[in-house]
Amino acid sequence: MKVLVAYMSQTGNTQKVAEAIHGEISEDKEIKTLDAVEGLDAYDFAFIGFPLIAFGPAEPAKKFLEAHSAGKRIALFITHAAPEESEEVKGWLKTSREAASKADIVSMFDCQGELAQPVIDMLLGSDDPNMRAFGELGPSTKGQPDETRLEAARTFARETMEMVKA
Ligand SMILES: Cc1cc2nc3c(=O)[nH]c(=O)nc-3n(C[C@H](O)[C@H](O)[C@H](O)COP(=O)(O)O)c2cc1C
Repeated sequence: MKVLVAYMSQTGNTQKVAEAIHGEISEDKEIKTLDAVEGLDAYDFAFIGFPLIAFGPAEPAKKFLEAHSAGKRIALFITHAAPEESEEVKGWLKTSREAASKADIVSMFDCQGELAQPVIDMLLGSDDPNMRAFGELGPSTKGQPDETRLEAARTFARETMEMVKA
């Protein structure tokens, strides 16, 4: 079995989760940034990770899923600045899942990721009040994903691989 961990990450948060997941896979495996992946045909299973950007999946990830995930067995992992339990996050995760609506999504993981300072500054300077509200979340996101969240990502990886192999 050949497993791919593919991710996009602008400020390193999703990359940390990708590396935690990759570390738990005992099968033949590769880890790549999404822009280096031409398709999923060479793999039996793929974990695909990206951040939420502007209230939905990051556009390159959305495009990748729409173009390449039909008929594939995949798992999604997603980071975002809003707290995990917020209602908005549930809606944005649903939109993310819909981008891969023709895939067999075995499992999904999401966790909070720190808003990098240049991003906070950019969001606080935006004309869009929703973007400014995100900028204000900044301090509450510091240090995420922390070790507890990375451990949850490792558990997600192990449980997903058990489901895939069953
Ligand atoms: C332009 C921009 C828009 C963002 N929009 C959202 C959003 O709508 N909801 C959210 O929860 N987080 C949002 N974020 C925060 C990122 O999803 C979060 O910091 C994520 O962990 C970044 O992952 P990365 O470090 O892998 O790039 C946004 C970040 C940027 C830069």
